[in-house]
This record gives sequence, C-alpha cells and structure tokens, in this order.
Amino acid sequence: MIKEKIRAAYEEMAETYNSLIDHKPHNAYYDRPNTLALLPDVSGKTILDAACGPGKYAEILIEKGATVTGFDISPKMVELANIRNGNKGHFFVHDLSCNIDAIATGSCDIVLCALALHYVEDWALTIKEFHRVLKPNGTLVISIEHPFYEYTFFKSKKYFDVENVKCTWKGFGRPVEVNSFRRPLHECIAPLTDNGFYIDKLVEPKPTKEFELLDPKHFKELSEFPAFMSIRAVKR
Ligand SMILES: C[S@@+](CC[C@H](N)C(=O)[O-])C[C@H]1O[C@@H](n2cnc3c(N)ncnc32)[C@H](O)[C@@H]1O
Repeated sequence: MIKEKIRAAYEEMAETYNSLIDHKPHNAYYDRPNTLALLPDVSGKTILDAACGPGKYAEILIEKGATVTGFDISPKMVELANIRNGNKGHFFVHDLSCNIDAIATGSCDIVLCALALHYVEDWALTIKEFHRVLKPNGTLVISIEHPFYEYTFFKSKKYFDVENVKCTWKGFGRPVEVNSFRRPLHECIAPLTDNGFYIDKLVEPKPTKEFELLDPKHFKELSEFPAFMSIRAVKR
C-alpha cells in the first residue's frame, strides 16, 4: 500500500531529516520563512501542527508563545518531535487521512500543514477535519509542492489526474524511494473552497539569501520557477 511505503520512507529518513532540518535550504530558507510569514501572531494561540515531522515548526511556534500539538504518521518523527520540544509540546502518531479524534471540535486557532498534503490522495476528509478543529474564523496554513513544478518534474502526461508518483531522495542518508500524489491546481484549491474555507493569500515563494550561499544552483532554479506553494485559508 502506498501509505505504508510513505511511512516506511520517513521512518528510514527520520534521524537524518531531523539532523538536517534546521539548515536544509529547501526547508529552512525556502519553505519555512515563506510559510511562517502567512501565520497571524501566534503568541497565546493554540496550534495544530499536522504532519509535524521532527517538530521544527513546533519549536519555532512554541518559542513565539504558542501552545502546539502535533501529529505525524511516522513514530520516529513523533519521538524526535518530543525530544526536540521536551515537555513544551504534545505530539502523537496519527494519519492525515483519518478523523483527528484526539482534537476537540473548535479548539484550535491555527492549523499548519507544511509539505505533507502531497502524501494524501484525497484531501476532502483531511480538510474537513482541519475545518472541524478550527475555531470560527480560524486560520489554516498549508505548504505543498507546486502543481506546475510537479507536472514538469514528474514528466506527467495527464495534467488533470491525481497521480501516484515517486522519486528517489538522496539528501537524507541512504537513497530512499518516496511516493506521493501529484495533482492539478484545481485539486489544490477546490478541497479548501468546497469544505468551508476561503483563500486569503497564496504565495509562490522565492528562496532567501541564505539559500544562495548554501546552494547557488537550486537558488537560481527556484528564483526562476517555484517548487512549492503556500496558502492561507480562513474558516468561513
Ligand atoms: C517533508 S516532511 C515535513 C515535516 C514538517 N511538516 C516540516 O515541514 O518540517 C513530511 C512529513 O509528513 C509525514 N506524513 C506523510 N504522510 C503522512 C500522513 N498520511 N499522515 C501524517 N503524516 C504524514 C511524514 O512522516 C513527514 O514527517
């Protein structure tokens, strides 16, 4: 099953992912600054970090005064998030494509889901659950792989389909095959607007100067064509 392969891939990469996440250019100097900029003031806010990985976003948000609960499908990632954040956050194993029974209805100010929705084939239930756990007017911020980037990177011939794709990641220790689902632009937007959100802001990010110093080749590429996209949506 594809989900099991995705979980196994992240279990395999978890330690290395955690050791690199603070400064890995695509995360630290491309996704995070642009995605964090979409969040409202987080001080005193209750945040759900969905697919939290090793808890780097949570660490930053806790530092800014938020109360953070996170989950991830990979037990190792959850363990690393707990180690990184000590007793300052609460992290548990959970699958994005299931009801989030552990989180009460209307209990979160903000839901963040960074670089993970491309591991979910059908977003409807996930987005409905994000909507359920948010307070009225609560904010959902997601970052995803840019649909146009994925279409070209995976050499797709079926733009309008949601397709299972895979590639081999070599940046996190031993090469690991990572499965995901690429989708057209409307399949990134309609699950939000059909399930109780309006889109407040959409960002096609640019890499920061720090990225250029660490990886000039990808800095140039990302300055000319986006690989990620970040969206802020508000609960109607
Ligand atoms: C690229 S990492 C991003 C981690 C974190 N959000 C960040 O940006 O630092 C993707 C994460 O999604 C998790 N993941 C993949 N499929 C998932 C699913 N179905 N449910 C929950 N987490 C999932 C992986 O285990 C991994 O930790």
